[in-house]
Amino acid sequence: MNSSGQIVPVDLGSRSYEISIASGLLPQLGGRLRQWLQLADDAALKCFVITDSNVLQPHANAVRSSLTQAGATVQVACVPSGERSKSIAEASDLYDQLVDFKADRRTVVVAVGGGVVGDLAGFVAATYARGLRFVQVPTTLLSMVDSSVGGKTGVNHPKGKNLIGAFHQPAGVMIDTATLDTLPEREYRSGLAEVVKYGVILDETFFAWLEDNVAGLNERSPDVLQHVVARSCELKAFVVKEDEYETSGLRAILNYGHTYAHAFEALSGYGELLHGEAVAIGMICGSRLAHRLGRINASVIDRQIQLLQAVGLPSEVPEALAEQHTAILDCMLLDKKTVAGDLKFVLPDRLGHVETMGGIAADDVTACLKADD
Ligand SMILES: NC(=O)c1ccc[n+]([C@@H]2O[C@H](COP(=O)([O-])OP(=O)(O)OC[C@H]3O[C@@H](n4cnc5c(N)ncnc54)[C@H](O)[C@@H]3O)[C@@H](O)[C@H]2O)c1
Ligand SMILES: [Zn+2]
Repeated sequence: MNSSGQIVPVDLGSRSYEISIASGLLPQLGGRLRQWLQLADDAALKCFVITDSNVLQPHANAVRSSLTQAGATVQVACVPSGERSKSIAEASDLYDQLVDFKADRRTVVVAVGGGVVGDLAGFVAATYARGLRFVQVPTTLLSMVDSSVGGKTGVNHPKGKNLIGAFHQPAGVMIDTATLDTLPEREYRSGLAEVVKYGVILDETFFAWLEDNVAGLNERSPDVLQHVVARSCELKAFVVKEDEYETSGLRAILNYGHTYAHAFEALSGYGELLHGEAVAIGMICGSRLAHRLGRINASVIDRQIQLLQAVGLPSEVPEALAEQHTAILDCMLLDKKTVAGDLKFVLPDRLGHVETMGGIAADDVTACLKADD
């Protein structure tokens, strides 16, 4: 690895693994995979690579070359790009291809792509032959800092997002930050919302570092990206280690901004708001709610608005959505994380610390869709 690379351990007992982060890493995947799987250089290795149509060339092809050079037998399956590929139908098609490939328990599934490919490939790996080993090579900022870490895999059901899934930790995650060079601008900025989120929920120093490095963030400076991805992965790994199966409540802090965001995503047309854009707006609504409940002063909201705007993210609810009080509340009540009609929100009490609060009144929730006049 080049000198600026970093390894973030994910400490989960027998399911522990490492996240390897550097620019230009893809050619090393084959060798690294043998280390992760503790396979001798001459031991047989069969890899089933899953990618999407935007990532195949050049990134999945680079992965294929690296694996082939390391002596692996490789098959590449390419699904259409987009959320619609996170389906049982697509998973079923991949099972068929695994059968044709004569995959067995030693076959390794390699996900090369964003969160859609990672969630789908992870789900296929978790379920085929009662579980194949699996490696993540995330290529969007969102998947690097969020979805590739933590072992949540799954597909969508027509009645609900991520309704069908399994926890299945990867054997390793390889993040080549140079793959972000080809990521469209809007997707990149959307990923930054989750990065800002980590600062607010867990790390005020990181939040301040982001404020100081806005120019590097906007230019995708390699050094800035390295720190952004590594620190985000450390923070997510810390949460996952403490609450792998989302039982203690700690993992729920990752949902800061998301109760509002999920409603905005559901109510705006398909593709109108990217997930990160909805999260950016949702964090500001959540902070207004915290302010309304007397938990923070206005500067905590203002610093978030300024940082989000500086990296090109929205912070205000679109006009047409802000009026839809009933529909927004209905979405929140239907959210699979809402129990018995109790609206729960992850709210900051300062930058770097949040708590989950229940029993929030509907009027307070809707009042925070707009800034105070
Ligand atoms: N498992 C988890 O813990 C977790 C956490 C957060 C989100 N998710 C899931 O992640 C998904 C969203 O992930 P996403 O935002 O990465 O979306 P995505 O996978 O759809 O990728 C976004 C777009 O970028 C393209 N792309 C990916 N890498 C590229 C590259 N390097 N260059 C050019 N184009 C590239 C893709 O083809 C796609 O069009 C959602 O389904 C969400 O539910 C899962
Ligand atoms: Zn999110």
